[in-house]
Amino acid sequence: MDGWLIYNQGMQTEKFQTIHHRYIEAAKGESMTLLPLSNAEITIGIKDNRHTLLNQKKPSFVLFLDKDIQLAMQLEAMHIPVFNSSAAIAVCDDKGLMHHTLATSALNQPDTIIAPLLFQHQLTMPQAFIDRVIKQLSFPLVMKKSFGSFGYDVHLIEDREQLLALSNEWVHIPHIYQQYIEASHGRDVRIHVVGGAVVASVLRQSTNDFRANVTNGGVMHRYEPNDAFKQLAIAAADRLGLDFCGVDLLFNEDNQPTICEVNSNAHIENVSRATGIDVAACIMNHIKRRIDVKYD
Ligand SMILES: Nc1ncnc2c1ncn2[C@@H]1O[C@H](COP(=O)(O)OP(=O)(O)O)[C@@H](O)[C@H]1O
Ligand SMILES: [Mg+2]
Repeated sequence: MDGWLIYNQGMQTEKFQTIHHRYIEAAKGESMTLLPLSNAEITIGIKDNRHTLLNQKKPSFVLFLDKDIQLAMQLEAMHIPVFNSSAAIAVCDDKGLMHHTLATSALNQPDTIIAPLLFQHQLTMPQAFIDRVIKQLSFPLVMKKSFGSFGYDVHLIEDREQLLALSNEWVHIPHIYQQYIEASHGRDVRIHVVGGAVVASVLRQSTNDFRANVTNGGVMHRYEPNDAFKQLAIAAADRLGLDFCGVDLLFNEDNQPTICEVNSNAHIENVSRATGIDVAACIMNHIKRRIDVKYD
């Protein structure tokens, strides 16, 4: 079984190479090989009316750690098993679409409002919309870019002035407005789900920020979530059609879980170090089993 590990051309740092190395070693453990390739090293197109790869032979499967949806779609169209699927990655990439999809199964999540799509000639967010956001969510509330990560584009908004300023700055950028889950200030639970089972969990905490993301100066520790947290994480992964993911859960005031976000391309390095659990091995083992079923 010769597979590809596809990553984004812009992600060639040592940090990513360490993660790729973990996957490559895990694949070996399953008697498979993984060839790391950036998305720019594979040229897709259409030739003689059919999907084609211009410079590569077809692999037997792909571990897709990128967000280049069209590349993933084309590989799938060429009958190559892709993990995660293009559809699952696309939904998770867009926070608005992700919350929308979770709501189709009424999964527990903060109240969320999706910003309207406004064309270039509309220069400000309509006042009536702003008023509805305030009425529905009240202050403080959370604003997020739909396509952000590492907590960089997640803001706590205290008043109307801040709300107007950021809404107008983001008027042409997809974003969401969300109920602030105060009980979860500076902490969340990251649960890695692989093949419908919880394989590793950490509590992430920050002492200086409402965002618990490690990249904002927080810490993470191994954590044993209760059944409610595990079940919600599994249900979210299942609803979004993910083979593997990192589900971020917040604590509401009753200490019940509510979904912050689901990461289709969750990083495994920090969680593996914090828990001693080889998440890459769990993922490659799951992929091996899925492919074995397919080729049986
Ligand atoms: N509605 C919310 N209420 C309270 N804290 C939140 C809320 N949404 C996000 N956070 C905090 O901000 C962090 C980053 O938010 P998240 O939606 O995961 O964005 P990103 O994709 O940038 O990681 C979360 O890990 C969590 O600690
Ligand atoms: Mg997050």
